[in-house]
Amino acid sequence: MAVPVKNNSAAEKVMSKEYEKKLKKVYVWELPVRIFHWVNAAAILILLITGFYIAQPFVSPTVHTNATPSVLMSFMRNVHFYTAFIFTITLIFRFYWTFKGNKYARSYPHKKEFWTGVFEVLKYYLFLPNKKKHYIGHNPMAEFSYWIFVVFGSIVITFTGYYLLFEPTPHTWYAALFAWVPAVLGDSMSVRAVHHWVAWGFVIFTIIHIYMAFRDDWLGKNGSMSSIFTGYKTEEVDDEDER
Ligand code: HEM
Repeated sequence: MAVPVKNNSAAEKVMSKEYEKKLKKVYVWELPVRIFHWVNAAAILILLITGFYIAQPFVSPTVHTNATPSVLMSFMRNVHFYTAFIFTITLIFRFYWTFKGNKYARSYPHKKEFWTGVFEVLKYYLFLPNKKKHYIGHNPMAEFSYWIFVVFGSIVITFTGYYLLFEPTPHTWYAALFAWVPAVLGDSMSVRAVHHWVAWGFVIFTIIHIYMAFRDDWLGKNGSMSSIFTGYKTEEVDDEDER
């Protein structure tokens, strides 16, 4: 049986060389953005594992005849709290870099173009006629999801987390900073529930985020996946740079 063989004819090779000539490397993700990405990703993973353990101790459950938590539980709680501090610092840093970084690190949700961009990308994903532009950095829809999960979600999980952390020491100045949280969310139990459900929001976000990154890499052939390690994407020279 004849097996089809890929025929790399001279014409094809010339064409691909021509095509390669049209490609350029664009420095998209600066080092601070890449460091933030990976530290934040690692912190979220550790916070999820330790957090879900605190909620439901799946190994060596903390069922005791006295009030002493198990060694493993103490360990998980300590890891959760120290990682939470790292998580907070990286968020503050990323906020600063939104103003300091290159154009791909910035976001303009107060501008009309941002929202028209979101709707055009949405129409594109729904297979509807659209005027979606070519984006080298995040597309506006991706940015919008970061505003919801990375910004709003992180703020909610951080404030609820610090409230829970300082709840046993209500007379300290740092507990006073978060004392208003249960007034907004109900009571202490609601604060814990919100903290827990936002954690599930992070799980959903992470799954979609990884899928979309692979999809972009596969369809765009632009090195999306490697770009978060190297900083560079491969784009066509003629492509309009729409951020
Ligand atoms: C600055 C950030 C954070 C702080 C200060 C913080 C703090 C806390 C505290 C104090 C608790 C309760 C511990 C206990 O009862 O012994 C807790 C529980 C938990 N945390 Fe965090 N946390 C933070 C971020 C996160 C993040 C980012 C996630 C996941 C993405 C997460 C997931 C959880 C979960 C699932 C629980 C268990 C909630 C429950 O009891 O149902 N936390 N956290």
